Amino acid sequence: MHYIRLLRPAKILSSTKGLVISILFTITTDLGDSFLCPEDGSIDLIAAVGDPAAGPVGSSAALLREAKTCRYKWKTGMRVLDANFALAPGLKKELVNCRFSIYPVQQRPRKTSTLLGALHVGDVLPWRVDSNPTLKMGVVMPATFEFVDGICSTVSIRTLGLGMRRSAREGGENDESLNLQFEEDIGESIARHIWDAGVVTSAYLADACSSPESIRQVLPIKRDTFNVLELGSGVGILGITIASILPEAAVAQEQRLRNARVLLTDLEEAEERARSNIAKAEAVLAIDHAEGANVNIEYENLDWDEGLEGRFGSLVSATPWDLIALSDCTYNVDSLPALVGTLSALHHLKEHHLDQENNGPVKSSVLLATKPRHSSEEALFELLDDQSWTYRVVKDIPLPKIGEEDEVVQVYLLQKGALMG
Ligand SMILES: C[S@@+](CC[C@H](N)C(=O)[O-])C[C@H]1O[C@@H](n2cnc3c(N)ncnc32)[C@H](O)[C@@H]1O
Repeated sequence: MHYIRLLRPAKILSSTKGLVISILFTITTDLGDSFLCPEDGSIDLIAAVGDPAAGPVGSSAALLREAKTCRYKWKTGMRVLDANFALAPGLKKELVNCRFSIYPVQQRPRKTSTLLGALHVGDVLPWRVDSNPTLKMGVVMPATFEFVDGICSTVSIRTLGLGMRRSAREGGENDESLNLQFEEDIGESIARHIWDAGVVTSAYLADACSSPESIRQVLPIKRDTFNVLELGSGVGILGITIASILPEAAVAQEQRLRNARVLLTDLEEAEERARSNIAKAEAVLAIDHAEGANVNIEYENLDWDEGLEGRFGSLVSATPWDLIALSDCTYNVDSLPALVGTLSALHHLKEHHLDQENNGPVKSSVLLATKPRHSSEEALFELLDDQSWTYRVVKDIPLPKIGEEDEVVQVYLLQKGALMG
């Protein structure tokens, strides 16, 4: 997959014809190690601007009513695109409050209720895009930025359209589909960006809610509570998506969820962005979950070098986790011993909790998603074997691609303490 990335916050400049938004952006892979090279020589991009106060924030109906779009071409061989976007005449810079989205023409919203700049789960999963030959070639993650009083934010917003109706579970009449928005930094940072495995696995889990057999394999909910711990959560895309879909996942398994917790963890560097994304999600989910499940999303720092020693913060320690989830955390071979050690220490923690409750054998389950980048990453499986974890691939998901080598996101289920079920 490729991502539209700003190289610096956009600026508003004055020209003889009025104000223009000046945007310097690139389109690269998640790692930023290669630029988009379209097989047909180019792809067309749309930039759209709108006033967030004009209607439901950022909805295409509001933005299009404001009537401002512009087209650009990204050509094979390009590394950067320096684009200008003329604003309506007569505007004063300090009064510019708007949202700005850039997305490929082929990914423009098909319904007016759809957010501009959203990537839809159906555009990512190969078994969903088969009917659309342009999307089969691959998708580009759109980017959205916000101007407040003429100043562009230093984060870009990635929007994931989950494809399920908001409030459908409560029989509500709201027909807007559920969109999750994630801030990520403009600039380099591993912890403050989203990554392919997180995007694709989130799409896969949301899609799996429509199939009881599929969702049972990955989010097996057997009671009216379910607690998930995410390791290396980054901006929080996987954990927040899980929190958003848990009520649907439970319904698909004929359970009614009352209380659920999803705890995101990472290094301190990730904390600010993760907390901000939790707040954004809570604002959306508070409406959605109002009469249904109480799904609590939290964040706590957890360094695997500490976890390996069984040193956990108070939130991690407090719960025997039903599921541990992680995406794109196994690419750095040097950190694998600490990561696998942390998984085993969490298993011991669960044994300790459940022993006090006099339960039977304790089983820990881990949902691990990875986009294999190098054969050295296979060291993970030796470490898992050494610490008596069993593992199997639940799903291989080929990535949508444009001018790239074949890549795949693999979703694994790891278990310890019981035979692989
Ligand atoms: C490639 S990012 C993936 C982020 C997120 N899971 C996603 O899919 O978007 C890897 C994450 O692992 C975290 N990480 C790396 N080493 C870590 C450690 N020792 N303890 C905790 N987290 C760590 C990084 O901070 C980063 O957020």
